[in-house]
Amino acid sequence: MTAAALRDFRWLPWIDEAAAALRPLLPRPPEVGVVLGSGLGAFAERLEGAVARPYAEVPHFPVSQVVGHAGRVVAGRVNGVSVVVLQGRVHVYEGYTAAEVAFPVRVLGRLGIRALVLTNAAGCANPGWAPGDLMRMTDHLNFSGQNPLVGPDDADLGPRFPDLSRLYDPRLAAVLDEAASALGLRLRAGVYACMLGPSYETPAEIRMVRAVGADAVGMSTVPEAIAAAQMGVPVAGISCLTNMAAGILDQPLSHQEVTETADRVREAFIALITAFLPKAVAVLAG
Ligand code: HPA
Repeated sequence: MTAAALRDFRWLPWIDEAAAALRPLLPRPPEVGVVLGSGLGAFAERLEGAVARPYAEVPHFPVSQVVGHAGRVVAGRVNGVSVVVLQGRVHVYEGYTAAEVAFPVRVLGRLGIRALVLTNAAGCANPGWAPGDLMRMTDHLNFSGQNPLVGPDDADLGPRFPDLSRLYDPRLAAVLDEAASALGLRLRAGVYACMLGPSYETPAEIRMVRAVGADAVGMSTVPEAIAAAQMGVPVAGISCLTNMAAGILDQPLSHQEVTETADRVREAFIALITAFLPKAVAVLAG
């Protein structure tokens, strides 16, 4: 799309078309939305009474080419909570705009979710932590140069200049910590730096993001988090730290290491989200 066309484009009719197409699929109104990152798709297989639609069959949904991103909307129940899961996401590095990347999350927002859980695989920039650690996102640094709110102001999606000072909801953060400690699971808490990718970072870039406070580094999540914040949807973010970031260890990074580590922590990750969901619904209702 040219810049001029983008300035005139209105997302809302497309968002509502997609929401209208999904609504008949949902057994009940969804309470929580969950976005599953690289290698973390297995959670969607654990839903009770699951119904699924490939992204390709939902109007206007972007479709990913990345290995490990199945690309389905799955709705069902987990631990008594009605959830709608986005199994796989697209990324800005695939050539999509940040608004296209955030599109499915905006659809979930219009479907009435009361909270959004964003997950990702990320490099670990904190030298005191280790691959396989799970991290609750306390905040983010957007180094991608992109923002999903670029384009016309549409008040129906939320404010033009949304406040992000509590983007990662403190109530959901407390509930995540509680769920982790009840499971005896160590949950780190830190700042996620979003890079454009798709190349991994250089060691100098990792020294830079560490110097400005990043603990984890990845190529996703931030567009969806910003779009949800604009809609007033409380967000929780969980990173699976799959590898030490570039230059921290004297070894090359590989996508294989990312998927292998995500596989290794799969059960802990699923247990954490499962325990989190009912507590999250309760804390937001109260
Ligand atoms: N950098 C950026 N994105 C990532 C990484 C990384 O080291 N690991 C998994 N996703």
